[in-house]
Amino acid sequence: MCGITGFTGKEEALPFLMQGLEKLEYRGYDSAGVTLVDKNGLYTIKTKGRLKDLENLLTNQEHSQTTGIGHTRWATHGVPSNLNSHPHTNADNTISIVHNGIIENYQAIKEELQRQGYPFVSQTDSEVIVHLIDYYNQGDLVQALQKAVRYLEGSFALCVVSTQCPDQIIVAKKESPMILGKSDQGTFCASDIPAVLAYTKDILSLEDGQIAILKPEDIQVLDFQGEVQAQNWSHVPYDLQAAQKGGYDTFMEKEIHEQPYVIKETLRGRLGVSDVVLPELDLAKIDWKMIERVYFIACGTAYNASMYAQDLFRTWMPKMPSFALAASEFRYGDYYVDENTICIFVSQSGETADTLAALNLAKEQRAHTISVVNVLDSSLARKSEVTLYTCAGPEIAVASTKAYTTQLVLLVCLVLGLVQHWKETIPQIQEIVKDLDRMPEIIETILKEDSTLQEYAQLLKDKHDAYFIGRRLDYYSVAEGALKLKEISYVHADAYMAGELKHGPIALIEPGTVVVALATQEEVAAKTISNIEETMARGATVILITFQNQDTSKFDRVIRIPSIHPLLTAIPAAVLLQMFAYHAACIKGCDVDKPRNLAKSVTVE
Ligand code: F6R
Repeated sequence: MCGITGFTGKEEALPFLMQGLEKLEYRGYDSAGVTLVDKNGLYTIKTKGRLKDLENLLTNQEHSQTTGIGHTRWATHGVPSNLNSHPHTNADNTISIVHNGIIENYQAIKEELQRQGYPFVSQTDSEVIVHLIDYYNQGDLVQALQKAVRYLEGSFALCVVSTQCPDQIIVAKKESPMILGKSDQGTFCASDIPAVLAYTKDILSLEDGQIAILKPEDIQVLDFQGEVQAQNWSHVPYDLQAAQKGGYDTFMEKEIHEQPYVIKETLRGRLGVSDVVLPELDLAKIDWKMIERVYFIACGTAYNASMYAQDLFRTWMPKMPSFALAASEFRYGDYYVDENTICIFVSQSGETADTLAALNLAKEQRAHTISVVNVLDSSLARKSEVTLYTCAGPEIAVASTKAYTTQLVLLVCLVLGLVQHWKETIPQIQEIVKDLDRMPEIIETILKEDSTLQEYAQLLKDKHDAYFIGRRLDYYSVAEGALKLKEISYVHADAYMAGELKHGPIALIEPGTVVVALATQEEVAAKTISNIEETMARGATVILITFQNQDTSKFDRVIRIPSIHPLLTAIPAAVLLQMFAYHAACIKGCDVDKPRNLAKSVTVE
């Protein structure tokens, strides 16, 4: 996720670009840059760091140019650095681009362009775009862009400026957001509405497969083949504050609804027909025959994701000892680690003190280290032998939502990738890969249950406790569901393995106690259903989440997960439980984005 701004008009472009980037910093903040253009040429300035670092570079200078593009970056390919920052320019500094998205086939394009003599200065996927446009440019920039986009696989929202037409911005979009705006001052483009709201409320959302030509007085929209497209402008009714949250009331709600998109980005380029693509593992110096044990290590929500991953790993690699451990326990637990051990660390921030300390310990014992991290170039990412990135973008709400589900999908890929290295056969691998690919649409369907969960959450209005139960993989999901509920609504929520209920916890059930039960694993569902009935016999009010064919005639409140491989139901289930917790917290009037006593990144032990 990155943020893009662009302006061409009668006034200086820079003030718009900078205020727009500030509104988009939620989309990324590891580097920033702008290109301003006029008949004298392109002026590009960019830097690693926050927007204020760019501001410092721009102060005490005149910037009278009335056309320009800007970018704030959330790195996906290439560490945050001055050279990897956008905009990227061609060799003779006549074309400049900013890009949001991921170019999956950038390596092949780069190699071909390098053969043609094009010099590359960054490690980014985005740089291929500017050289490809240059390659096709024979005096008509729009045609050059039309030819270039045909070769780009993946997602992109991009803006191009050039000395050829210094008062124009050419924009193209596929699967990454881009909106356009217009006012008496000029025309605008940006990744999201907040960037333009101080200037205009007249907005056009560019569609996939469209190119727009922005001039100071008007905007033309074409498709990738050059056909003129109709424009459906709308007037945004809400204010800036609402717009920063994408029209949602809170960042947590917005982040819950971003999950189809970020899951898609995380899986991009990772799925084959019956295998996964993890070149990072091929590059690791691991002698697979020598490995004797695998640890999954993390904290909090990331630990719940690790338990799930370990279970999958054990299912597919039963002979390889594997363990999921909270990092704080791993540190002091005298677990056996040596050079024949793989330690897998999972973290959104990549800065959690216990997880980092566990990594250091593993490295001291010469273990192989693999990290699944969201924040690029974070400490964990830098220090691990292999790093895989979830592409969740910045997570602002303290309670983790989209980081968790992107961890789940990437961990499935990682576990499949590991097992592939040991050449073990995975039953129904084709179905699993296919269902992973369908996951964004499955989550879209799940999000439609929002109002039902809001209604169910009313059950907690005057309650102080709730219990979550499930068996096998459902247990990890309910562990996460209970964590989510307690951290944002302050309802005391506990998760139990359904089979453990009658060994103690059932004593807590009394008339009206809320029990959230997951029974998505068909092979053990009947057993879980019996356990649920035991709670109902003691007066519990039950919410049941289950698979399509389960008989639910005895239950009043049921949500069914769309048909999907049982090993993957944890992902849609997570989203349902996030929405449940979210609504419970709202009903109780809690500050959902900033729960008491919690910090987004726990950098102390
Ligand atoms: C809960 C939550 C925390 C984090 C934990 C680890 O919603 O966000 O439990 O999962 O503090 O943080 P990271 O993933 O940054 O290592």
